Amino acid sequence: MEEQLRQIQEEADRQLAGVTDQAGLDALRLKLLGKKGELTLLRRSMGSLPAEERPRAGQMINAVCNDITEKMDALGAKIKKQEQAKKLERESIDVTEPRKHTPIGCQHPVSLVQDQILKVFTGMGFDVVEGPEVELDLFNFELLNLPKNHPARDAQDTFYIEDNIVLRTHTSPVQARTMTSRKPPIRIVCPGRVYRADEVDATHSPVFHQMEGLVIDEDVTMSDLKGTLDAFARELYGEDMRTRFRPSFFPFTEPSAEVDLTCVNCHGKGCRVCKGTGWIEVLGAGMVNPKVLDMCGIDSKKYRGFAFGMGLERLVMLRYGITDMRALYEGDVRFLSQFRED
Ligand code: DAH
Repeated sequence: MEEQLRQIQEEADRQLAGVTDQAGLDALRLKLLGKKGELTLLRRSMGSLPAEERPRAGQMINAVCNDITEKMDALGAKIKKQEQAKKLERESIDVTEPRKHTPIGCQHPVSLVQDQILKVFTGMGFDVVEGPEVELDLFNFELLNLPKNHPARDAQDTFYIEDNIVLRTHTSPVQARTMTSRKPPIRIVCPGRVYRADEVDATHSPVFHQMEGLVIDEDVTMSDLKGTLDAFARELYGEDMRTRFRPSFFPFTEPSAEVDLTCVNCHGKGCRVCKGTGWIEVLGAGMVNPKVLDMCGIDSKKYRGFAFGMGLERLVMLRYGITDMRALYEGDVRFLSQFRED
């Protein structure tokens, strides 16, 4: 048996010297120390030795087992280190290598202008409120004093989903929603997408964007409306901007006005954009009709309000000199990336 052990030890040393990876090491460990490994079998065969020889044989087998296990563990540690080093090398990154060109997105010009306007109004203490695009007839029309037979409800203008559900035709329903759910004082702006059954052309689209404003408090007057819109115009386009109010009609405001802005292109001198007048029309506005206040649960004897609504596409087109609205929706990246403002 001594001879057998010596041979196993020699053979093991020889094979260990040739092992270069974890798989080889595992195979060798199995061959020597596994369930049917050479040393395991040898240990089992000890039973056939005379009793007095067994302790010495056991010691010798243990010594060889320990020696081989130690060597294998040491080799295992070395292999692990080598494999880690190889992995690190494989995964190392050359930070000086030029990167692949990754196109960076940019904000859509409508979002850009919307954000600029929101910034001006939030700076004046307005909250931003949004509402659903699929809207109840109640909020889109009824509570805004647009009764069932009003011409604005004509099927030509409004996309009906069901009898009492529409795609909102303006952002004004957010006013009605807010008045029915909040107590004054109210100071909100409501940006969003609106829908009208219009044919697509250079100045029309069935989907476009508006921004609504609403202020309700005890002593709100028409001059607060004018002051607010003047401040807005100056903040957005410069100190020389003015607003001009012209009498108009909206069922939800009384009195109502259409509001012109100093032409952003010529700053009032008169040009092609403003057709020589120096003014461009950008807003509808007025004092909230007391009937609307009452219908929405706000006491019109105690409170007054002003409201305004503007189309964003028109402002975007004026600001960037875009003459065809379709360009805003075609998604041509070459066009859209011109408006990056950073
Ligand atoms: N909702 C109107 C429209 O879509 C715009 C408007 C006019 C909103 C006057 C207002 C307002 O809040 O006071 O044409």
